[in-house]
Amino acid sequence: MKPRVLVAAPLVGDAVERLRAVAEVEQAPHVLTEEELLARVAPIDGLVSLLVHRIDPRLLARAPRLRVVGNHAVGVDNVDLAACAARGVVVTNTPGVLTEATADLAFALLLDAARRVTEGDRLVRSGAWQGWEPTAHLGRRVHGATLGIVGFGRIGRAVAARGRGFSMRVLYTSRSAAPPEVEATLGATRVSLEALLAEADFVSLHAPLDAHTRGLLGAAELARLRRGAVLVNTARGGLVDEDALVAALRAGHLVAALDVYRDEPRVPAALRALPNVVLAPHVGSADVPTRAAMATLACEGVRAVLEGRAPEHRVS
Ligand code: DGY
Repeated sequence: MKPRVLVAAPLVGDAVERLRAVAEVEQAPHVLTEEELLARVAPIDGLVSLLVHRIDPRLLARAPRLRVVGNHAVGVDNVDLAACAARGVVVTNTPGVLTEATADLAFALLLDAARRVTEGDRLVRSGAWQGWEPTAHLGRRVHGATLGIVGFGRIGRAVAARGRGFSMRVLYTSRSAAPPEVEATLGATRVSLEALLAEADFVSLHAPLDAHTRGLLGAAELARLRRGAVLVNTARGGLVDEDALVAALRAGHLVAALDVYRDEPRVPAALRALPNVVLAPHVGSADVPTRAAMATLACEGVRAVLEGRAPEHRVS
């Protein structure tokens, strides 16, 4: 009998069709809610989950046959890795394939916040635009400014490469230093988080969310940012204390451009009311080839384990 796999959402591309060759696949017609997911996991051997699905002891208790979770994301903060390991459930993710798309979005947000594109769009649509003026709608200069990158993995480095293209001075902070040749190619200098926050005109977050990084930027860290600095977050909302961020934005201390939030899809009304923040709906990886590649990796991870092979991207 073929193993049973639940794919918890519609995916881009034909990866699910290929999975059908080796498994009996149920694909949800929409992104399953937590309750819908819990109601379907009892008979399954494999699960393709999204970052919105909590894979925790509650779910594991209802899925006694579960052997593998292919998480359709590079981030695995939605998965209780220790609980999965204790149950012998393999977890895979989708690194690498979303690097460039996410770096593109980070830079799009950086440019948007710097040059007030979304704010200008609102002005024009409202009918309140009065025409060209030398002193109106002034933004920040990106070319030659200092870019601070927090977390210097694949995506952080891809953002550094974009910064180089804009002749930016690139600083980074991360747990370990990048190889000297990477630093040289990207013209990037490793500094402490404190120094980065104090010196950068633009700060872009690219660290994973885990016990060490949750709340990495609280009120004290945000206060360290230069007045008028731009904070870009395409990583995870939990890296930043959202209440402190709202306070700093309200005080006009900084400008922000966010793709991720602490409790998605809930975006605090206080944040939505502020003019000096660009708000995107978690679309860092949202281009067609990227999403198709993510689907392929997530489904391949599940397939490998069900066929008794080592998956390419095993997290635990
Ligand atoms: C990820 O893979 O972690 C991204 O946030 C998806 O867009």
